[in-house]
Amino acid sequence: MSNDRTEIMSVQEFRSKTMKPQLRPASWKWEEVYPKMMESLDESGAGSTGVSLVHKDLEGAGVSPSMNVIVQVFKPGEKDHAHRHSNVALFLVFEGEGYSMIDGEKIEWKKGDLVLAPAWSDHAHCNTSETENAILVTFQDVPQVSNLGAWFFEEPVGTKPLHVVGGEFKTELNE
Ligand SMILES: [Fe+2]
Repeated sequence: MSNDRTEIMSVQEFRSKTMKPQLRPASWKWEEVYPKMMESLDESGAGSTGVSLVHKDLEGAGVSPSMNVIVQVFKPGEKDHAHRHSNVALFLVFEGEGYSMIDGEKIEWKKGDLVLAPAWSDHAHCNTSETENAILVTFQDVPQVSNLGAWFFEEPVGTKPLHVVGGEFKTELNE
């Protein structure tokens, strides 16, 4: 193996390269998030309809080096595909009502509730309203598990789990 991939440096240099800059405080305004999220309604299938909030100070797609946030909208009656991943998903019900099936447990939710889908739990969400959208703001630790090389995804549940590293993100649903 040639050394075009490797380098030996002083401990001091290593330390200086390892020190990450402090992120600048940031906010994502609902009047900007909402229309982008609604635009995504016509483009994506269930379970991937929404937007990801990103801090420009980061190289990856997250709001901090360890966390990411997605804002999803579910149309009336919509249910996504059961899946699981090695990242945690903690979601705040921003609008609407419905339920989630998490490891076989039915957890009903409505506006203001906070629900946890633990790492590697089998989960799916359903909007039970016949007329109103449901909006979930989901906090995850994808950057953290991805940095550790430990991001796994299984969708639909029962298919071969994918180790998500580099390249394209693929599932059996969109291959
Ligand atoms: Fe999920």
